[in-house]
Amino acid sequence: MNNFWQKLNKPILTTTPMAGITDSAWRQICKSWGADIVHTEFVSVDALYHGSTKTLQMLEYKASEQPVVVQIFGKNAELYPKAAKIVAKTGVAGIDINFGCPAKKVAGHGGGICLLRDMDTVYNIVSATMNSVDLPVSVKTRINLNKITGAPNKGQITIFDFLEKLKDLPIAALILHGRSYEVPFTGPVDLDMLKSAGEKFKEYFPNSPYIINGSFQTIESVVDDLKYTEADGIALSRALYGRPWIFQQIKDYLATGKYEEITWTDTKDTIIKHAHLLYESKGESGFREMRKHLLFYVKGRPDASTLRKQLVSVDNPQDVEKIFSKI
Ligand SMILES: Cc1cc2nc3c(=O)[nH]c(=O)nc-3n(C[C@H](O)[C@H](O)[C@H](O)COP(=O)(O)O)c2cc1C
Repeated sequence: MNNFWQKLNKPILTTTPMAGITDSAWRQICKSWGADIVHTEFVSVDALYHGSTKTLQMLEYKASEQPVVVQIFGKNAELYPKAAKIVAKTGVAGIDINFGCPAKKVAGHGGGICLLRDMDTVYNIVSATMNSVDLPVSVKTRINLNKITGAPNKGQITIFDFLEKLKDLPIAALILHGRSYEVPFTGPVDLDMLKSAGEKFKEYFPNSPYIINGSFQTIESVVDDLKYTEADGIALSRALYGRPWIFQQIKDYLATGKYEEITWTDTKDTIIKHAHLLYESKGESGFREMRKHLLFYVKGRPDASTLRKQLVSVDNPQDVEKIFSKI
């Protein structure tokens, strides 16, 4: 097996999987700014199993994106081998399994993070996936959740229970989001928990990278969190919105203790390149998705509110070029 995770220089910088964000165009942009790995949006094993055309399109990628990791999710262990084989046929570098999604339509039916309430199924999902393909299989989860929804007095299931259950399987890497199911996206991450989970992960999986995730805002805070937790890498998510160049800035800061602010010319080049890549991969109908990225890109500019009015109606890369050629 080509386990690319073990060949990367540390610290490893990656995107997390993000539904509605980490499509091929965004991954190419992140890669061009120094991401070591990119993740796809999460892909349903049920949809892969049933051959959904839309879902199969989510597996498309460009060679320049490699190493690409496809994240799969679902709560039925039997569907994973067929889904994993479909993923493996595309030639991607790895598979990640989602054990962290808190969204109602996933966790509300016992999937995502709520799978941790049934550790035998967690084990079966991971082992069935590993046994079906010759690809490194990583996992992504959160630090804890209540045993019963809405009942904190009944106790918690933690990352330590998860690691204990999986410790005899060859987990290729762990991405750990330092928040719980109950407070899924707001507030700071629990750095102490991320640190001690990393120690346990290293004890059980000494050769596999441990990647932290969540709440990273500035270049300096990313590097501080990395040092404090002694993680092997960082997975970036919302911190990348409108500033994919932070991969490069983090690398510069780690190497030299300083980094340069991005110029407006480089920003514009990135925006226009992003627009073209998105149009190439999704055509006119998918291009509307560019609008949210454009709003992220101009956030904080003094003329942002004027720009926003124009950006929410762009239909193609030429519209984008026209707006940005004037500023
Ligand atoms: C819009 C959106 C989509 C997401 N989609 C996924 C997903 O498909 N798979 C996954 O594991 N996590 C997903 N997440 C969670 C992120 O990967 C990440 O764990 C979370 O945002 C915490 O990191 P942050 O605080 O740095 O944003 C998503 C988050 C957001 C905001």
